[in-house]
Amino acid sequence: MTHTLTLPGPFDPHVHLRGMDWAHKGTFASETAAALAGGYWAVLDMPNTPPTTTDPAALAAKLDALGRDAVCDWGVYFGASQDDNTAAYTQITGPVCGLKIINNATTGSLLIRDQAMRARHYAAWPGRKPIAVHAEAETVADILALVRQYRKPTHFCHISLADEIRLLRAAKEDGLPVTAGVTPHHLLLTQDDIGALGALGYMKPELSTKADQQALWDGIARGVVDVVESDHAPHTREEKASARPPGGVPGLETTLPLLCTAVREGRLTLERLVELVALRPQAIFGVRPDAATYTVVDLDAAGTITGANLHTLCGWTPFEGMQVTGKVREVWIRGRKVYDGERVLAAPGSGVNLYRAERGAP
Ligand code: DOR
Ligand code: ZN
Repeated sequence: MTHTLTLPGPFDPHVHLRGMDWAHKGTFASETAAALAGGYWAVLDMPNTPPTTTDPAALAAKLDALGRDAVCDWGVYFGASQDDNTAAYTQITGPVCGLKIINNATTGSLLIRDQAMRARHYAAWPGRKPIAVHAEAETVADILALVRQYRKPTHFCHISLADEIRLLRAAKEDGLPVTAGVTPHHLLLTQDDIGALGALGYMKPELSTKADQQALWDGIARGVVDVVESDHAPHTREEKASARPPGGVPGLETTLPLLCTAVREGRLTLERLVELVALRPQAIFGVRPDAATYTVVDLDAAGTITGANLHTLCGWTPFEGMQVTGKVREVWIRGRKVYDGERVLAAPGSGVNLYRAERGAP
């Protein structure tokens, strides 16, 4: 008998789909197809792709393009900008999933280093939709000070260091409204892999030590970590081979097989897996799949991760050649089969903005 797992609407709250001016790296069509092939019902798209999603016109253009092309369900973040776009907040919160504040240097032009400007964004963000933050090392403490002051729900993206886990654990014990995500690459790769991977192992935050990696697994076991998020960030092979390669790796199609393999190896329970990729991210970002939205994974199917077989436009993966056990067999959205284990069956534009009902509402 094959051993299958039915996941209720796997939900990745941290992806960079590209499209717009970076359609050579990935398109809304190709990267939402990658989401379905990876077993995901829905994804939340980050605002750092040019034109940055930092004003109402750029947001409207992205909503229109995703509405036309997406094959999975989706949401988009609005981006906080260094030149203070807080005046736009009251007009844009309806159709977005939350606000993203990038506080350390990374791909793209969005970066807020100034703590007073960060505070301005925290003060201005209306309502209770989450603020997702890119914060590394000491910056985690800077952001926690703002959470303490403004009490706004804050999701710490791609936590990668033992010190960060310690800070977040203490913040949770203090009752602050914080949640934490970790990525499969920080869980499964370390700086020891950079020699073999070269720029294909370069991302922000960068790969770290085995001790940091172990702290992430401990954080999962102890409930400090809420979410496994792919931080899917495709770049072309040519860009990665250049003298100044950009940071970022694709991840949407490898996350579930890698985590199922971790379950088989006894590093994770199935119950925790379901929480990390579906229940917790859904709860944090305020969405819930209907009963006819689910993903079937064959937990016994063995395979080898191969970049050439992926749907992502970039066609490579930092996990090339890894043996995995666990294969996505079917994805269903609202009663329609949208992926059959090999082919994406959904029509362009069939994916919906999960926050659409709020369009126009402040
Ligand atoms: O490695 C990364 N790549 N980290 C980020 O924070 C952004 C992302 C990208 O957009 O390429
Ligand atoms: Zn990211």
